[in-house]
Amino acid sequence: MMSTRKLVSLVALLLATATSAFAQKFEGLAMTPPMGWNSWNTFEIEISEDLVMGIAQTMIDSGMRDAGYTYIVLDDGWMLRERDENGNLVPDPEKFPNGIKHLADWLHERGFKFGLYNCAGSKTCAGFPGSQGHEFQDARLYASWDIDYLKYDWCNTDTRNAKEAYTTMSRAIREAGRPMIFSLCEWGGNKPWEWAKDVGHLWRTTGDIIDMYEGSQQWSNGVKTIIDMQHDLGVAPYAGPDHWNDPDMMEVGNPGLTLAESRMHFSIWCMLAAPLIAGNDLTVMSDEITAILTNKEAIAIDQDPMGKQGARFLKTPEMEVYYRELSGGDWAVCVMNASGETRETTFDLNNIYTQEGRPQGDFIIKDIWADKVLGKKSENSVVSKTLESHDVILLRLSHIKE
Ligand code: GLA
Repeated sequence: MMSTRKLVSLVALLLATATSAFAQKFEGLAMTPPMGWNSWNTFEIEISEDLVMGIAQTMIDSGMRDAGYTYIVLDDGWMLRERDENGNLVPDPEKFPNGIKHLADWLHERGFKFGLYNCAGSKTCAGFPGSQGHEFQDARLYASWDIDYLKYDWCNTDTRNAKEAYTTMSRAIREAGRPMIFSLCEWGGNKPWEWAKDVGHLWRTTGDIIDMYEGSQQWSNGVKTIIDMQHDLGVAPYAGPDHWNDPDMMEVGNPGLTLAESRMHFSIWCMLAAPLIAGNDLTVMSDEITAILTNKEAIAIDQDPMGKQGARFLKTPEMEVYYRELSGGDWAVCVMNASGETRETTFDLNNIYTQEGRPQGDFIIKDIWADKVLGKKSENSVVSKTLESHDVILLRLSHIKE
């Protein structure tokens, strides 16, 4: 007869096995939206070890790493156009002469995490070998290189079912045994917000971003167009700790945006609890752009531990207002001059009324970009400022505890 203790251990073992068979993503890796840098928006496939090391050094020197930007992700173009005779992916030896593991070690020693890109199709979007049919083999290879993050694209997927394809890769990562953030880049066509919570840590909601204010070019959309799409899709309620909507990597600091537009772009990403993945050439950025990307109070809005995504509250041709409920009874409010001209932009915070109700109690109002406390909301709830076209006022309303 089996002793009770043995029986209990056996049941525990069976339960653990069953749970791991069903478990998908590694949980708890992205309790706040991931922050880092990705090579695609500026460099496309012109990437190399030298580039990554230079970017990493700038992230250290500019304070970005210490502000929380710890994931460095190589996008498309890191590998050769063919697998080797064993079916393994091969890092391009001209771009990465010391291999990927060497670069991963170098980054880890400096306090970074390292991510790679591949695709659920037969080929990546830039025509390199995709992971279809090689999911488990590829995941084992990434794990052997100590990779921490995988961005997984959706080109050349033919008749594949998105949920199945992403679940397969998620399981492959799980089986390879190394915790990796899994970033779904499916562009929103199969509504990943409805099914990807247990599969990955973030999912793209829309097509690619480009460094212009608004409009669309083929697959790519301007920053404001991407923001409008988030609103129209109504994806906000689906985000939360460990599972985020991803409106795409940032274009902050790239030449197609004015400084005001970069500030607006960053502010709205913070309001939307979006992953803060910079996409500019950090080695040449201006002090103003560094100041935007490293602003601690803006980042604190993005990284709020409650993880509740904000939304748009008001839209007129002249002005848009976004709100976000934060932990501890605080709120963030972002007021945008949506017009094409410099304007006096005025908003009464008492007009905020959201699905969650009104902000309750009294608040200290802080203008984050001006680094200025404006006073108590009970004494003056009207915020007014002359804003350049497409610039914003970003406010934190800190709840005054009785
Ligand atoms: C797609 C993705 C982009 C980028 C490129 C790489 O367009 O959406 O973010 O990864 O592929 O080819």
